[in-house]
Amino acid sequence: VSLEDRIKALIEQSGPMSQPDYMTLCLHDRRSGYYATRPALGQQGDFITAPLVSQMFGELIGLWALETWRGLGAPPNVALVELGPGDGTLMSDMIRVTQRHGWPDRVILVEPSAAMGATQRERLGDRARWVETVDELPRDRPLIVVANEVLDCLPARAFVRTEAGWAERRVGLDAGGHLIFVLTPSALPPSDAPLGAVLERADAQAALAADLATRIAEQGGAALLIDYGRAEPGYGDTLQAVAAHRKVDPLAEPGQADLTVWVDFPAVAQAAQAAAAEVSAVVPQGEFLRRLGIEARAAVLSRARPEHAPTIARQLHRLTAPDQMGELFKAIAIHRPGDPVPPGFETPA
Ligand SMILES: C[S@@+](CC[C@H](N)C(=O)[O-])C[C@H]1O[C@@H](n2cnc3c(N)ncnc32)[C@H](O)[C@@H]1O
Repeated sequence: VSLEDRIKALIEQSGPMSQPDYMTLCLHDRRSGYYATRPALGQQGDFITAPLVSQMFGELIGLWALETWRGLGAPPNVALVELGPGDGTLMSDMIRVTQRHGWPDRVILVEPSAAMGATQRERLGDRARWVETVDELPRDRPLIVVANEVLDCLPARAFVRTEAGWAERRVGLDAGGHLIFVLTPSALPPSDAPLGAVLERADAQAALAADLATRIAEQGGAALLIDYGRAEPGYGDTLQAVAAHRKVDPLAEPGQADLTVWVDFPAVAQAAQAAAAEVSAVVPQGEFLRRLGIEARAAVLSRARPEHAPTIARQLHRLTAPDQMGELFKAIAIHRPGDPVPPGFETPA
């Protein structure tokens, strides 16, 4: 039975399905979920992430981790962790840089998908060990955590402002038995949002931020979260499905496309603060990478391989230009109160 038919049967049994339940089944169903079956990143796959645009991204994040570790006084026992490592490119580029400085011995990758884990193992082999959840990370040492484009695959609820107040958007069935969005009553208190406004509630993003923040406040260390999303609270329907580099209907062919929502950075920051951690300002990716020295890095690489200079210039543009990944993508850091603010997040003078 296809995932689509199983989802339809669940809706027939129990009524319209919440957007988080729908997203979780589409992404993580063990038999047919997107991440469980199609680890398809890159040019030949469904979408490209920053580390796949250029090695410069991972190298600079590696330097970020190294400097963050040094800022903590270079403790010998510290865990360098990546959440949702995709095909392993980011961590592989990171440790190519950090291991020149003899650090770290081994890294920990948090990956719930067995298929993605297998791809990562091919690239990183015995330089890493794997766990499935943040809960399984060591409790006896500081954690330096990076997560690029991971929060966006955590599900969010969606509410639509109607004449009668907020209604929750769920996945239901039309008379012909096709999946459609339906509006169902909700207990969300009324507001003066304009009619038709969509409010997203990314509880899972906030929960992950709170889990990381709790650990970091207790154990020390820092987390760097990079994703596309909003830096200010706001309305908008950002549910998006992408397959083969094109936007597709999120209700067509469940499990065949990557499903994401924008990261709600204010909610993430609030959850981390409530868990007693310190949170940086939200810095646009272009600005963050410039502060870490991407322009100098691009110049060095171009001088070393002049025949690659035009490609490197294109990659730099893609990662940092405001109309590319420079503005929509944003970075935020969580750290322990009293520890130095991690590199790239110092408040400008
Ligand atoms: C869009 S890919 C990003 C890959 C990589 N970070 C990069 O930048 O290329 C999302 C990754 O997050 C993983 N993932 C999805 N849900 C997750 C969760 N709840 N916790 C940790 N990782 C998750 C996916 O399996 C995949 O490895």
